Amino acid sequence: MPLTDRDLSTILDDCAREARKEIGKGHVADYIPALARINPDQFGMAVCGVDGREWVVGDSDSSFSIQSISKVFTLALALQSPGASGVWDRVGREPSGNAFNSLVQLESEQGLPRNPFINAGAIVITDVITTHFVSPVLQILGLVRRYADCEDIYIDEEVARSEEESGHRNAAIAHLLKSQGNLVADVDDVLAAYYRQCSIAMTCRDVARAFLPLAAGGRHPLTGETLMPALRAKRINSLLLTCGLYDGVGNFAFRVGIPAKSGVGGGIAAVIPGHFAICVWSPELDELGNSLAGTRALEIFAQETNLSVF
Ligand code: DON
Repeated sequence: MPLTDRDLSTILDDCAREARKEIGKGHVADYIPALARINPDQFGMAVCGVDGREWVVGDSDSSFSIQSISKVFTLALALQSPGASGVWDRVGREPSGNAFNSLVQLESEQGLPRNPFINAGAIVITDVITTHFVSPVLQILGLVRRYADCEDIYIDEEVARSEEESGHRNAAIAHLLKSQGNLVADVDDVLAAYYRQCSIAMTCRDVARAFLPLAAGGRHPLTGETLMPALRAKRINSLLLTCGLYDGVGNFAFRVGIPAKSGVGGGIAAVIPGHFAICVWSPELDELGNSLAGTRALEIFAQETNLSVF
């Protein structure tokens, strides 16, 4: 039986109620000073169906810093750029089993990042964009606005500045990549673009809409536009499943069973191919950098809808 509007509304209320019980058990991302100031007592969720229906609960229209969720958009942009053919020679497609900002593996694996969603891999992807577009940040923002079907999406320059001032680890990664021959553009230019993509501010509703093409075989159900070939959508979803939550990806697949991408702003975007794109947001993170309440909400959603990729 297809899920009715009433079923979905009840399920979202259940998700919010259970997820809110997690608030107080984690920590907001404090290694980026601008994110350390956020009120942790927030939870939002938006679900968009491939048939165009939408359901929301809680703080679903509050803007938050999408952080690493942006890595999905930059990968989509790189794969449609003139540099697309070289992407998979420079970045792998395996889970890292390491923290998202680890330098260790990069050194032992000669500058080939395990996947495009750890910081090292995302910095290489941003390098592809920086080398192939005159205004890389505008290109990224343009793609995000088009995917979300919303022109109001913006870059929070205060967050970007804060990341730039405190981003010693990312700078180390970028310099290591440069020394290993896997960064073409100027290190500072790539980092400037990377910090800005991470600092894009969006609501749960925006993010869920922007992930709809991945749930609908590359076509955007709201605009009718084909944004990527179906095979590319399928492949990006496979990377979400295996690499989207860093070294927490196995536990997330076990508990939730849905391809997803997290960010240290507390957002998680998830895709149930053929059915829904979902975004949950709550700022407190677990020790691996994934939203605690967000994970719980997706777990309840998968249980109550009986939907997953398994
Ligand atoms: O580069 C960083 O560390 C952040 N701008 C993004 C990290 C992130 O979101 C990892 N996600 N869980």
